[in-house]
Parts: sequence; structure tokens; C-alpha cells
Amino acid sequence: MTLGFDYIGDALAVDGVSLADLAGEYGTPLYVYSAEVMRHNYRRIERAFAGADVMIAYSVKSNSNLAVLKVLKDLGAGFDIVSGGELIRTQRVGIPGERVIFAGVGKTEKEISDALDAGVSEFNVESEAEAERINAVAAARGERAPVAIRINPNIDAKTHKYITTGKRENKFGISMGRALELAGRTRTDLPNLDLIGIHCHIGSQILDSSIHPRVVEAVVDFARKVMDKTGQPLKTLNFGGGFGIAYEKGQTPLDLQPFADALLPRLAELKVKLLLEPGRSIAGPAGVLLTRVEYIKKGEERTFAIVDAAMTELLRPTLYEAHHEILPVHRNDRETGRMDVVGPVCETGDFLALDREGAIPHQGDLLAVMDAGAYGFVMSSTYNARPRPAEILIDGGKALLARRRETHEDLLRAEDEVFAAN
Ligand code: LLP
Repeated sequence: MTLGFDYIGDALAVDGVSLADLAGEYGTPLYVYSAEVMRHNYRRIERAFAGADVMIAYSVKSNSNLAVLKVLKDLGAGFDIVSGGELIRTQRVGIPGERVIFAGVGKTEKEISDALDAGVSEFNVESEAEAERINAVAAARGERAPVAIRINPNIDAKTHKYITTGKRENKFGISMGRALELAGRTRTDLPNLDLIGIHCHIGSQILDSSIHPRVVEAVVDFARKVMDKTGQPLKTLNFGGGFGIAYEKGQTPLDLQPFADALLPRLAELKVKLLLEPGRSIAGPAGVLLTRVEYIKKGEERTFAIVDAAMTELLRPTLYEAHHEILPVHRNDRETGRMDVVGPVCETGDFLALDREGAIPHQGDLLAVMDAGAYGFVMSSTYNARPRPAEILIDGGKALLARRRETHEDLLRAEDEVFAAN
């Protein structure tokens, strides 16, 4: 059995399971994930940082399906969350608070207090105002909250502007100068904060392997200054996630070796634990979106393959002009040409691929949109009153229904409840 997505004869399969069979049984559009590919991707990161005291905290936002979280839990992963909703998801699968890190720029009082109830291992603090709020919530409970200050090192991750987070103009993190001042305040007027670490995540889908070594220098240098200023040792250095994957032919995933080589000796010197928050590099290549061709429309300028998935299922092409390979589920010798693969949603921006060269499919053909395991379903919407698709997890050659297809009743429930009463 080949691991991952590959053709068996002319039929695309995942871990030996036919995608056409899954589409037949569960309908389309359909998300299909491979647990084994996720494990493989997790272990690749684990291997790169072997020798360090490390917690690989899977970034829940990338794919928060409960069955997916369970796969990562069973590997011993930690979890990076950004909302109360994601905290509830980790709790649903029995992940203990000490394996959870809470990040995000807009934590509410309730989210902070729920996270303290859960005993999360670290709050990544993104602003002075947030530090003050966490301090106040912890003080009211007679507790101290473990915090890491998220610094913004003003290093360009050279990725899409919407997923760049480490530049001065981005809303994330605190500049080094102000962060140092804030660190000092944890020894004076913010006594309910237990400053345990430094956090830094400068962007997502990073492919340039010279970037992380620069971040290492910035963070290590800053950590030393903080220890000098507070007179206290730090326990954790958190480098976030952002490890890029190969969406396009000819790309290679981020090489983690230069990062690990720069980092490992420093960790030993500082005697701190390493935290990482990868999402995409674990879940992305492990998933596809299956879709069926409803119509072929020969326009004046180009051919449109109108499929039953849309920006509602996979927003990335629309939002970031992101490229996803699209493969025929049955390999064929159809005529090739240039086409747009578009959905039924009433938006010109509703496309999965633009001006793509390939075999022009026929009505009824199945297509697989590749590398859709991360930031796929989680960013889906119900625009145009479209129920969200089902999700399937393949594990050990078996298909598990990880989320049933939504129904129109699901979508109407919150209105029906009040509509009748009005
Ligand atoms: N840690 C922090 C603080 C983050 O903000 C993120 C992603 C991660 C970890 C995980 O990054 P990853 O390893 O997955 O690259 N929707 C966009 C990506 C948004 C990423 C947001 N933050 C996309 O579809 O490309």
C-alpha cells in the first residue's frame, strides 16, 4: 500500500482506498483526510528537532475536526488554540490543559478565565492591554497565569501579505523594545503574570529556509535580555509554525534542517523547552477536496469546468489566489486545454483554479483538489445557503465519517427556533 494520494492503475486512491468509492458512498463535495499522512508529517518535524526538549503543538485552526485532533493526541502532540471554541474542541477529545497553548490577539475575559479553568500551559500575549486583562482575571481568581510574550521581530517571512505576521505593520506581537518593558512590568505592576517564555510566529507557508535561522537569532537575543532584566530564567521558547508545503509542482516543502541547526545549540545554552505550532505542514498535504463536474461551459474566452465545490468549501484560491493542484480521480486521455475550475456560487471570485492547463473534464467526472487538509473545511461557509460538506478520515485502510454532511435543517435551526415565535 502506498502512503498518501496516488493512482492505483488509473484510479486515484488514498492509502489504498478508492476516492471514487468514497464519493459514491458519501457524495460530493467531500473532504477526505489520511491519518497516516498526518502522522508521517508530524514525525518528520519530530525527527528534525530530535534531541531537544520539545512540544509540537498542532495548530488547531488549520483543521479542527475532532477525529483529526484525536490522531494528533494519540501521537503525544500539544495543541495551539486561538479561541474558546478551539479550547472546547480539545476538551472534547480529552486533551489536558497542560498540552494546550492559547494564542490570538483578541482573547475575551471569558476565554481567559475558561483557559485558566482548563489549566492551559501558556498564554501567548499579544499586547500590553491583553497582559493587563490576563493579570486582572488571574488576580480576581487568586492565581498566576503562565504567559509568553509574543514578539514582532520585523522580519519579512516572504509569503502572501495576508499571512505575514512578523512585520511592524502587522497586528501581531509586540515590538522588541516594548516587549522588554512589558517583561519588566511582570516583576512590578503585573504580579499575577508568571512570565515563562517568548513566542514568535512571523507568518505561514514559509518556503525560504534562511528565514527561521534569523528568527532564532532575534528570539534568543531577546530572551537573554529578558532574563537579564527580570533576573528570572525563562522556561519556553515558542517559534510558532509556518512551515511551508509544496502546493505547486516544482516546489519543495520548507527544509527544517537550517532552522534546527541554528536552534538546537541555543536551546541547550538557555536550558529552555522548545515549543512549535505547526498546522499546515501536518494537515495540509493529508487532505483533498473531492468535487464532481456539473457542467462544462465553453465561454467566448475560455472553458469553464463548473464543479459542485466552491469558495464556500475552499476559500484559499479566492482569498489568497492560492494554487491547489487539481487531479482527475480517473486518469484519462481527455483533450487538454486551458480552463477555469469554478463553483456555483454567485461571485466572480468563486473559483478553485484560474487559467489552468490540463485535461478538460467531462460532465460527471470527479476531480480531487489537492493539499486541502489545512485551512480548507475550517474556513468553509454556508454562503448561498449551501450546507457544508462531510469529512472522512482514512485510517488503517478504513473510512471513518468524521463529520456528516450538513443538512438544510441544520442551517435553518437557529432561525426556525425564533421565526415561529415572531
Ligand atoms: N501559530 C500562530 C501564532 C499562527 O498564527 C499560525 C497560523 C500558526 C501557528 C500555524 O501556522 P501554519 O503552520 O499552519 O502555517 N488561512 C491561511 C493561513 C493562516 C495562518 C494563520 N496563523 C491559509 O489558508 O493559508
